[in-house]
Amino acid sequence: MNDVRFMIDGKECLGKPGQTIVEAAKANGVYIPVLCHFEGLKPVGSCRICTVRVGGRFMAACTQPLIEGMAVENTAPDLEDMRKSLIEMLFVEGNHLCPSCEKSGNCELQALAYRYQVLAPRFPYLWPRRDIDASAPLLMLDGNRCIQCLRCVRACRAKDGRKVFAAVDRSRRVKIEVDKKLAAHLSEDQARRAMDICPVGAILRKETGFAVPIGRRKYDAVPIGSDVEKGTGR
Ligand code: FES
Repeated sequence: MNDVRFMIDGKECLGKPGQTIVEAAKANGVYIPVLCHFEGLKPVGSCRICTVRVGGRFMAACTQPLIEGMAVENTAPDLEDMRKSLIEMLFVEGNHLCPSCEKSGNCELQALAYRYQVLAPRFPYLWPRRDIDASAPLLMLDGNRCIQCLRCVRACRAKDGRKVFAAVDRSRRVKIEVDKKLAAHLSEDQARRAMDICPVGAILRKETGFAVPIGRRKYDAVPIGSDVEKGTGR
């Protein structure tokens, strides 16, 4: 099949039929921020951090397939400010205490906050009361930091295919719960994958922490997005 020609912020790019804007942008060395999206998982378009504009219309770049000739706006000031405001909203609607979090330096939300130079959010903090479920032998689920991206729901399954995590309730009350019976039998690898798939510090491996000191972690070394922009992204 022929390549798909498209443009991002005036840069001429080539993509593959069936690719989403996020995938094709990355293949062309253009970074579009994502949070709920994770390579290999079916995109759900829930966080909207990846919003771009095409023909005057806003769309989620992680779910929108490429169309021949499309001209994508990715870094217009209003788009970037909207992304920054979304990041700020995520910070105020949860309880994110970065300095004491095991995910600090590996956290995608924190890394995006640095990228967008978030200082004091423009919204009031809500300080919600959220549950912590530490009943699983290897994992701890901390609702205070959960951003409801559903990556864990989509990615983590038991050997028989059943989902280890599930979203319960709706709208503002939505929260992630872990299936206690399945979680009781997670292997070390499954527990590690669950922690790694979480973009924030909502799912943490128990009994171990701070093996790599803060300051020497992934986004301490390479700011988020810069590897894609340099064409070396994973
Ligand atoms: Fe596209 Fe979340 S990354 S909507």
